[in-house]
Amino acid sequence: MLKNFLIVATLSGAVMASAQPAAAHFDTQSKVFRLDGGGTTYAFGVNARGELQQIYWGGHLAETDAIPWAVPMRAWASFDSSHTTTPEEYAGWGAGLFVEPALKITFADGNRDLVLHYESHTTIANGVDVVLKDIERKIYVTLHYTIDLQTGILARSATIENREAAPVTVEQAAAAAWALPPAHYTLNYLTGRWAGEWNLTEEPLRPGVRVIESRRGSTSHQANPWFAIQSGESSEEHGEVWFGALAWSGSWRITVEQDQLDAVRVTGGFNPFDFGYVLHPRERLETPVFYAGYSPDGLGGASRLLHSFELHNVLPRTAATASASTPKPRPVIYNSWEATEFNVDEAGQIALAEKAAALGVDRFVMDDGWFGQRKNDHAGLGDWYVNSQKFPHGLKPLIDRVHALGMDFGLWVEPEMVNPDSDLYRKHPDWALNFPGRPRSEERNQLVLNLARDDVRDYVLGFLDKLLNENDIAFLKWDYNRNWSEPGWDQLPAAEQKKVYVQFTRNLYSILAELRRKHPNVEIESCSGGGGRVDLGILRYTDEVWPSDNTDPFDRLTIQDGFTYAYTPQVMMAWVTDSPHWMNKRTTSLSYRMLSSMQGSLGIGANINHWTPEEMALAKRLIAAYHEVQPTIVQGELYRLISPRNGSEFSATQTVRADKGQSVVFAFIHSTQEGRGFPILKLKGLDSATQYAFTSIEGKAKPGTPAVASGAWWMNHGLEMDDAFRGDFQAVAFRLDRK
Ligand code: GLA
Repeated sequence: MLKNFLIVATLSGAVMASAQPAAAHFDTQSKVFRLDGGGTTYAFGVNARGELQQIYWGGHLAETDAIPWAVPMRAWASFDSSHTTTPEEYAGWGAGLFVEPALKITFADGNRDLVLHYESHTTIANGVDVVLKDIERKIYVTLHYTIDLQTGILARSATIENREAAPVTVEQAAAAAWALPPAHYTLNYLTGRWAGEWNLTEEPLRPGVRVIESRRGSTSHQANPWFAIQSGESSEEHGEVWFGALAWSGSWRITVEQDQLDAVRVTGGFNPFDFGYVLHPRERLETPVFYAGYSPDGLGGASRLLHSFELHNVLPRTAATASASTPKPRPVIYNSWEATEFNVDEAGQIALAEKAAALGVDRFVMDDGWFGQRKNDHAGLGDWYVNSQKFPHGLKPLIDRVHALGMDFGLWVEPEMVNPDSDLYRKHPDWALNFPGRPRSEERNQLVLNLARDDVRDYVLGFLDKLLNENDIAFLKWDYNRNWSEPGWDQLPAAEQKKVYVQFTRNLYSILAELRRKHPNVEIESCSGGGGRVDLGILRYTDEVWPSDNTDPFDRLTIQDGFTYAYTPQVMMAWVTDSPHWMNKRTTSLSYRMLSSMQGSLGIGANINHWTPEEMALAKRLIAAYHEVQPTIVQGELYRLISPRNGSEFSATQTVRADKGQSVVFAFIHSTQEGRGFPILKLKGLDSATQYAFTSIEGKAKPGTPAVASGAWWMNHGLEMDDAFRGDFQAVAFRLDRK
């Protein structure tokens, strides 16, 4: 089979003969495509009717294994014809299809029947482009497939082209559909709300459709575009898992469907709700990318593959790390928001910067309040000039002081928003998303600018570029503090106005790309009132995200646990803030707060003006200890040893450096009950034969273990915590280093 396909076309168009088996193969006899990468094989082919049909997705098959057409087109009765039960790779709505279509189109003459058949294909580096065409009309769909050779994660998207003489309206366009054969499965997805994001929601898959979506114009706190489907026997570290993540920061939808013959199909892409994209003759519509992968090692194995893929293939690089295989660990930041809120000024920020520098912080970030007439959240958004009452000499004196203290400087912006009380709105009221003559719903006293418009796009890019040209800014915290309402775009003909759902997000990405091109060392955080805009689309342009406005260290354990199912700790910013916590009124020790945040990319967001010398000394010591092991924590292999979910009294995580030479463990007690001690912690992922030395990080953990023991000992015997590790909101952390 392989001999048919040893010619590999590279992305640049060069064709090379490869002595190695290629990642993509096509068997001309059986018309089967096969993609191999990591531990995964994915196969699909052209069936007798000419449709593209999925055949296999799972553990890697031997290269000598032919993949025959063993999978018949499934049919049961006249009610369940093979048109609807065949797992098509990308089904048009037509010909008796009742399951979720990938593509639904209305033609100019009212015809809505679309039947896509295989037309041709071209191989590309580590993948293939397959062209489908309607059986009669000139609608062409190119399906793009690539597979990552390390993780086996597939990237799929589609380009839809209208070569008809008249316009057509695309009413529904998925990036991809993924299929699994009939079996018992559990679906996992991430849900939440403001200050309560990242709840892992698990449920058995049942006949019918589970819809995971955002209709809000952006990714949302309520649901995140990620799924994982476990086979019946699968758990955190064992069993088969199929998972995926959609790279789109606008309205999106993933449907997980079990059909009448118990087969499963996952379809994801633009949210079809209120969707309608007019394609004029020769125009094309590109869908987002839908990534998906397979792990035989449970949800833990799935998230380790995703983390590695994100680090190596998704996250952007700065000029300084352009050729590095992974981005740098994030600088430890100080952020002024919870200390000063809108009351920022030169003297106050400098005082905080001096304290932050004394802690060993790398980056000082000034949050909201520095621009326009921004005294509170009622005014100023849109007016991106420095407020001269708060900063009479501009930002330079503050930035110079921050640099002199050995830190770089970051700034908060919320570019896509406008307060009606702003010069920008008074000048351009038509720039806000709205339906003319209808009310404009404000949230947090603000409206959303219609970034889909070219003039708005140019304005936003222009002021950000100017800000970065005029000030030595290393980092932008890019916020987005509401969702859409009344998403009108009345500059376009009525039939075209729904393009806003695509063009807004495309312009957002193009602004981010252009800023990074012009300012190649600037780093950006995606924040949306916490974790409202976290997805693999925005993460191509942003270096980190703010997972939640909820900084309570105990709540954060669950938030961070949920977050890591889909996203790497590298991008998971985690601040230490004040106690009692502003939202939960919970009182916790500084050590507990620090250790909770040290599970991700550490930041300090407290009012450090009020910290005692003892607190300053403790934070300084722990920041230094964190710096030493940060690469292992944020880029190592993560094992969620004990989950904090479902009312657990305990939780623990472990990360292991890629070379297995170092490991870091965090363990937390919520509240000791009935005298129960911490369970024995059996570590994972170490090298059995290597000797590892134990060092406490926070300085109090003294487990009943030897100072040095083999990987086998830590993994098989495991470690018993000191009997004194009891109480409420307690935390310990330690590191193991190869001797
Ligand atoms: C959002 C962010 C906060 C802070 C405020 C400022 O809520 O999530 O971290 O930046 O905006 O207004």
